[in-house]
Amino acid sequence: MHVHGSPKWHPETLAAHSGVGQDHSYGSVSTPIYQTVTYQHPGENLGPYDYSRTENPTRHSAQEAINRLDGGQGAILYGSGMAALTGLVHTLHQGDHVIVTDDAYGGTYRLLTDVFSKFGVTSTMVNTRSLDAVESAFTPATRLVIAETPSNPLLRVSPLRALAEMAHSHGAQLAVDNTFMTAVRQRPLELGADFAVYSATKYLAGHNDVLAGATVCRHEEQYALLNELTNATGSILGPWDAWLLLRGMKTLAVRMDRQEANAVQIVQFLSQHAKVREVFYPGFGNEEQDLLQKSQSSGTGAMLSFVLHEPSQYVDLMNALRLILPAVSLGGVESLITHPFNETHRELPEEVRWELGIVPGLMRLSVGIEHVDDLIADLDRALCALA
Ligand SMILES: Cc1ncc(COP(=O)(O)O)c(C=O)c1O
Repeated sequence: MHVHGSPKWHPETLAAHSGVGQDHSYGSVSTPIYQTVTYQHPGENLGPYDYSRTENPTRHSAQEAINRLDGGQGAILYGSGMAALTGLVHTLHQGDHVIVTDDAYGGTYRLLTDVFSKFGVTSTMVNTRSLDAVESAFTPATRLVIAETPSNPLLRVSPLRALAEMAHSHGAQLAVDNTFMTAVRQRPLELGADFAVYSATKYLAGHNDVLAGATVCRHEEQYALLNELTNATGSILGPWDAWLLLRGMKTLAVRMDRQEANAVQIVQFLSQHAKVREVFYPGFGNEEQDLLQKSQSSGTGAMLSFVLHEPSQYVDLMNALRLILPAVSLGGVESLITHPFNETHRELPEEVRWELGIVPGLMRLSVGIEHVDDLIADLDRALCALA
């Protein structure tokens, strides 16, 4: 209980105490799993909970933990990151327009182009690193900017403070997909954003065992609206999954420290490897991007990507790795390698992938908590085995 209400604790402390002190019945340190659909109520009066789609104590506890971590005015938890993004777009109306980072997660693109376009919400993919490009993409109907920074999979950095100001000057709101950084590295609401959106499946939960999504709101009215829409649409997170998320969040800060330290060493290793043409990591090799990342984040995270000199060797590379698993997803304790061109970003038209730099030789690596020497040895052996 000591954490509650205190604005002074560091994010690391808040993360470690996720869900602690929430059990008013027995004082259990860990939040219990309230595996119930409904709640008894005496007489006509409903209690604080009446039906678990509307509210559930385990989910509530996890929502509070995420909200506290991001410093928001309310958070909603969803069944996946895509459900969180869907919930956000549900706040719009027919005829509204969205601007979205051009190399954002492929599923974000698919949601806007394949689903919401049918309901009259239009979108434009823009290089959000360029304020000129963003400025010229605004229309009188633009109500929402979705920025992903660092982006997936090219780890490009967009200027959040300036984007927030620009969105507000056009009467729009800024949502930041903060999946790669989390609030222990980057704090979108403090940089002026209206929403921090997460695939909580990734670093927040951290163990590749639960799908979850979250949106943290800067303003109470936005929270009230999202809450109402989520109750209406029903895309909530179940109590077991909310508990797994809470359990994972407790170690978020130490996992991120370890994963980031590993990633920094792997970037150095790969950038000197003869089989690797180019390495992407936030700010790496680009002074302007580096300064920007430092001005809005307290670290660089644990996602990186690299381009093979010989693109056709990507399958051989994945097959030759023994420790790093070829699998989509990211942010967990185990290191995973992905081929964005054919996997995470296949929703983008091929010419758009090429234009963005999502080329066939590009590999994305989510660095885990293993010993870094083992990770480097695995990569070295597999890369050297390529013809
Ligand atoms: C940056 C980003 N946002 C959103 C999502 C979607 O999240 P989920 O898979 O939890 O629906 C992902 C998934 O990979 C992602 O990487």
